[in-house]
This record gives sequence, C-alpha cells and structure tokens, in this order.
Amino acid sequence: MKKNILLGVCGGVAAYKSAELVRLLRREGFEVRVMMTAAATRFVGSLTFQALSGHPVATDLLDAGQESAMGHIHLARWADRILIAPATANFMARLTQGMVDDILTAVCLAARAPPVLVPAMNSAMWLNPATQANREIIESRGIRLLGPGRGELACGESGEGRMLEPEEILNRLRELSPTGPLQGRSALVTAGPTREPLDPVRFISNRSSGKMGYALAEALQAAGASVTLVSGPVSLAPPPGVERVRVETALEMYDAVFARIDQAPLDLFVACAAVADYRPAEVSAGKIKKNDANMTLSLTRNPDILTEVAALPADRRPCCVGFAAETGDIRRLGEEKLRRKGADLLAANLVGGTQGGFEDDNNALTLLWHDGQAEKRCGDAPVADLRMDLPMMPKRELAAALVSFIEEHFFACNPSS
Ligand code: C5P
Repeated sequence: MKKNILLGVCGGVAAYKSAELVRLLRREGFEVRVMMTAAATRFVGSLTFQALSGHPVATDLLDAGQESAMGHIHLARWADRILIAPATANFMARLTQGMVDDILTAVCLAARAPPVLVPAMNSAMWLNPATQANREIIESRGIRLLGPGRGELACGESGEGRMLEPEEILNRLRELSPTGPLQGRSALVTAGPTREPLDPVRFISNRSSGKMGYALAEALQAAGASVTLVSGPVSLAPPPGVERVRVETALEMYDAVFARIDQAPLDLFVACAAVADYRPAEVSAGKIKKNDANMTLSLTRNPDILTEVAALPADRRPCCVGFAAETGDIRRLGEEKLRRKGADLLAANLVGGTQGGFEDDNNALTLLWHDGQAEKRCGDAPVADLRMDLPMMPKRELAAALVSFIEEHFFACNPSS
C-alpha cells in the first residue's frame, strides 16, 4: 500500500541509517517527508534528507517560514504514518510526558494515528528503568516499537539497543496493517468531469477539477478504508495507496463502477463526479465541418450512476453518498435530489459564484439526509437535525470532515463484517 510517511530523525549515531531508509521507502513508492531534532542535524545535515526525500526538511517548531510552508498541524494531517527513526531515550521520555518542545513531539501529539518508533541507544540506556518505564507507557498507548535489535553498538559495546537495519524496518512496516475507523471497509469514489465526444477532436465537458473527489479518496484511505477512485480526465495525481481507474465518458464511468461492484461487495459509494447528463446522440467519425450558420446537436441521456447504485438490492447496495452542485436554493434542490436519487446522504454546494465549488481549492457543503436514515444505520446515536452545514474551508479539510460524519453516523454502530 502506497502512503505518505513522515520520518522523524532524532539525534543519535544511527541517524545515518535513516538516510538509507528514506531511499528505500521512496523506492518502495512511499512519499517521504523528514523532520529532524536539532541534535539530529549535528549527526547528519538536513540537506542530505532534503535531497533524498525531495522535500524541505522540518527542523524548527518556532520558525515562521517553516510553519507557513508546512506547519506541524499540516505535517500531522499529511502523514499516513509517522515513523521516528532513530528514536532516542530522550525522545521517548518527552513523548511519554506529552511535551511539545520540538517539531517531532508537536507532530506526534497533533496526529490522529499513533507514531511508530524505532529505538536506538546504548544498551545501558535502553535497559535503564526510566527508559523501560517509558517504553511500557508508550506501548500501552498503542504506539508500536520496532526493535531495538542486538549487536555491536556505536559506543563499542555489544548488546540490546541497536537500531534495526533499514531493510528490516521496511519489512516490519509492510506487516503493519492500516489503522483507522474505516479499516476493513471498501469505498469507491467517482471524481472529475466526464468527456462526451462529438467527433475525434471535440467533446462536451464541464469545469470539474476532481479536487473534491481526490480529497475524499485520500481522506477515506487515511481513515483506513481501501479505496478505488474512478476518475474522469483531471490533472491530479492519485493519492498514494488509492487505486485509480481512469475513464473518459459517462458510459465508461458507469461500466467501471459496476465492474468494481460486481467484483466484491462495496461498503461505501461516493458519487462526487460531475457526470455529463447527456452525450451526443452520434459521434462523427471525422471532424465535423462548419457548413451552415446554425448547428443543432442531438443529445441522449446518460444513465445516472448514483441512482442505479442506490437502487441495487440490499445485499449488494453500498451506503450511497451523492453530491449536488447547484446555482439556486441548495437546500430545496438538494432535498429533492436526495429523494429522487435514493442516496443516503447528499452533499450540496453552490457553484457559479465567486468562491468555492468547481476548480477552487475551497468549498462549503450542506449535508442532507433522510428522516431516520442515519439513526437507522447507527443504532442509538441519533443526529439532531436532517441537515448540517460544513462552512467554507480547504477541500482536504472538508473531505476529512465529511468522512468523519460518514464514519460517525453511517458506520460507527454498524461494524464491518
Ligand atoms: O443530477 P445531478 O447531476 O445534479 O446529480 C449529481 C449527483 O449525481 C452527483 O453525486 C453525481 O456524481 C451523480 N451523478 C451520477 N451519474 C450521472 C449524473 C450524476 O452518478 N449520470
């Protein structure tokens, strides 16, 4: 599974092994960012990690420049997995205490998922009761420790405390299963526009950028779901770890969605694509010539993917989330669409204005659901109203908020089978 790994490097001799680790992780397909303690930069220069990871290295919690580029909160959200290697006795002690006195501890405290620690230190330090007490506390909080191993140590002694070799760390990471509230769930997200060809060079399409759908795929994956993204033509890279199926037309999108549903049961379907409602009735084999002053196009209705998925028999029907881009009264139009399409949840937003919606990095959503629908799926965790507004915010944050809502109201009391 391809993911974003945030590697924290502490100040120990073993820091040099982490440079090799970055190289191996990238070769494996991980996107890697690095943060270092001040002491770590005394052992290995941050430029080494910058060159190997392809990203600037975060070294300072109080540096305004670094914080505005990608601050500790953003780093914590960006990371699918935080790996601290080497983790020193000092770092373990500070983490145990919940201290936030550098970028590494700040990120670990701000992250949703617990970090993975790869300890490295002299064996007397490792076996010291203080370190062992910290180890116990750390492990009781669900934080995984990889190693330490036994062998020759940098101080010349031999014993327990040696950092695992980069290859071994990679193998152990492969074994760690993805964690998160949607672990074991499968989700399919449609995203982007469709293109409906008129002739070999022209098509009908729309302004959808795919940003919202890609952000949702990423947020679902970060929550532990295994995600398939069926995407129309956009210029975005697929989120690491998400399987992407590329399509052009609405009919291709329809086929790709149903092929996936036929393959294995799906828990969640999120229809975020701006699917063309109509396609040209005929696709000209050659380029259409301009002959007359006026030209009339004949269009045929495309199948409505969301409606058809929502109408599947109960044993094959996933939880269905639709989107509605409207230019008018989003509440009224959204409620009507929710009913007509048979979705469980509808996320409506305004488009065509000056801010938010298509192409923009920000958006606001009004969530609408049926009377009793969320409660029905979620036992005794009723939601207060049948509507919730998610205010204007970056699409990645909005996606995380929407995924949390889905988790809480449609899946929390409905364990995966
Ligand atoms: O009817 P409208 O296109 O506004 O509906 C939007 C919702 O329906 C979105 O969730 C969109 O992905 C989905 N849709 C679909 N297949 C279509 C048209 C829309 O799945 N042919």
